[in-house]
Order: sequence, then C-alpha cells, then structure tokens
Amino acid sequence: MAQSFPRATNSRWRRPAAVIVVVLGIAALACAGEYPQSTLHPTADFGEQIDALFRSIFWWAVGVFVVVEAALLFVLIRYRDRRGAADPRHVHGHTLLEVAWTMAPAVVLVFIAVPTIRTIFRTEQAPPSDALAVDVIGHQWWWEFRYPDMGVVTANEMHVPQGRAVVLSMTSEDVIHSFWAPKLGGKRDVMPGRTTRIVFTPDSIGEVYGQCAEFCGESHANMRFRVMVDTPEAFAAWAERQRQPAVPIDSLPERLRVGAQVYMSKACLACHTIQGVSAGVLGPDLTHVGSRTTIASGILPNTAEGLARWLRNPPAEKPGSLMPLVPMTDDEITSLVAYLLSLN
Ligand code: CUA
Repeated sequence: MAQSFPRATNSRWRRPAAVIVVVLGIAALACAGEYPQSTLHPTADFGEQIDALFRSIFWWAVGVFVVVEAALLFVLIRYRDRRGAADPRHVHGHTLLEVAWTMAPAVVLVFIAVPTIRTIFRTEQAPPSDALAVDVIGHQWWWEFRYPDMGVVTANEMHVPQGRAVVLSMTSEDVIHSFWAPKLGGKRDVMPGRTTRIVFTPDSIGEVYGQCAEFCGESHANMRFRVMVDTPEAFAAWAERQRQPAVPIDSLPERLRVGAQVYMSKACLACHTIQGVSAGVLGPDLTHVGSRTTIASGILPNTAEGLARWLRNPPAEKPGSLMPLVPMTDDEITSLVAYLLSLN
C-alpha cells in the first residue's frame, strides 16, 4: 500500500517545506546585521570571554537537542500504531535507562558549570596596575565619567584608548542602575553606597553603544551612553583638551559672551559645572560639552538643532528629567547653544 503514496506526499509537502526554508533563511539573515548593541560581535576581552562561554554552551545545547529529538523521532516512528500490530511490551523500571538519563544531564552540567565558574572568576580579576581608572556614576538619567588620575570629568561619552586595560569603579548617586555596553562585555549593577567594578581591554577602534539595563524610573530607556575607543594618541590628545578650563567669559568674543550671560542668568550655573565659570554638581559637567557627539544621555545629536530642542523643553524630550523647563526666548536659546557648542 505504501508504494502508491510517495508522489502525492511529495507535492503535498513541497509548499510548506519551501515556506519553512524561506522563513528560516530570513531568520538567519536577521543575525547577520551589524547591530550597535549586539553581544555577538564583542570588541573587548571581557565580552570575548563571555562570548566563548556562550558558544561552548550553545554547542552543548545543540548536542542535547539532537540526541533528544533523535530519540523522540526514533520512538515515534519505531513504535507508532500499526494496523493489526500487537501492543508493545510494557516496561516497569529499567535500571540502566534510569542511571543513564540521570548521569547524562549531570555530565552535561559539569561541562557547562566548570567553564561558567572559570569565566566568572576571570571576569572578576583584579585589574593590571597600569589600567586606566574611570569612575562611573549613575544618575537619573545620565552617566558621569570621571578620570581620577587625569583630572577629567565628562558625561555620557567615555573615551578609552585601544589596547589598554580599563577599570570602571561604578556607583550610583540615587537608585540602582546597570552599566551595559554589550560589545564590551556583561552588564553590572551600579548601586548607591556600593562600588562595583568592570575590567576590560578594548581591542577595536570605534564607537560602542551602551544602555542602562536596570529599570530606574521614567527615563530608564533614555539613559544611554557611548564608549569611544580611540588610538592611544587620539586618546591622549582628547584627555589633554578635556583638562583645559573654559575661556573666562570676559575673554570671549561678543557673539559667545551673550550666550555665556544667558547661561549665568538662567539658573544653568546652579546645576552645571563649567571649569572656571560655574561649579554646580547636579547635572553633567559642561566644560567640554561641545566636544561630545550627543546630548541628553545620547537621545539627541549634539548639533545646534538638537541642543536647541533639548533646551526648549527638557522634560518633553526626557520624561521625568531633573533638568526643568527654563523659560527662554528663541534668541536666548540660539545664543546659549552657540556658547555651549563653543565649549569643545
Ligand atoms: Cu538607569 Cu535604568
């Protein structure tokens, strides 16, 4: 009887099979893209260690899947109901099978646990003595980066040199945040009253995207950051520039002095530091705000347009923003933007 079926079966399955192949093909393509926050293409030793662990566990999972599915298919086909066939023999208790299916997962778990624990210890290791120290402070909703050995303070964009170990000492000014730059490595909580640490050595030049990964209030999703991995020379030049105080207001050209006066008269100075001009500590340090590529924790480009949009109504851009709406005329905003962008 079976002989009369093959042709019909083939054509019946051809269309669903084609659909499955196309869908799987598209799904596979989805993994091939260059996503800025993908963990699949690490660019630091920390991320590479986690990636290697993930890949080894993935292949163990593939092995388990193949063995289990093969056994399932074998049983389904070998013991399927056949017309006129006798009931299969019922088995009660099988010592060999029971020992086997207890031991097999235990062995698999050992092969997963040993590299996992080894990776945990490796990623918690003390930093080398020449590591670049960066203090990371989480705020609702922005990131402060301080370089204690270099006298540099910045926000939302951390610069680090390629090939040198970096040690992040992280704490929070308010609630629990979590520092996560997926390409660099795993996420780690940033908590008030405690210091957590991440050590990594970036291996590729470029921009790495990061994101707060612990719900921390209304604008949690707007708490982004970037890590700029520079050549050692470019990093040294960046740090040297960042160390410089701002030009005193009196020495500014007229065009910028107007904006600086807006800054001084509109309460900005109460919350922000501009070295040599103001010393507020609630908001990001603005001494070199013009040198950053984004504003407001990575949600707007740091252009005249982006900055003006931010200044017009911060809570509209970042819900819950602690930076209030400060009423300003369009002219005042234009002058202030010109002054801020000149701080590079
Ligand atoms: Cu900070 Cu979520």
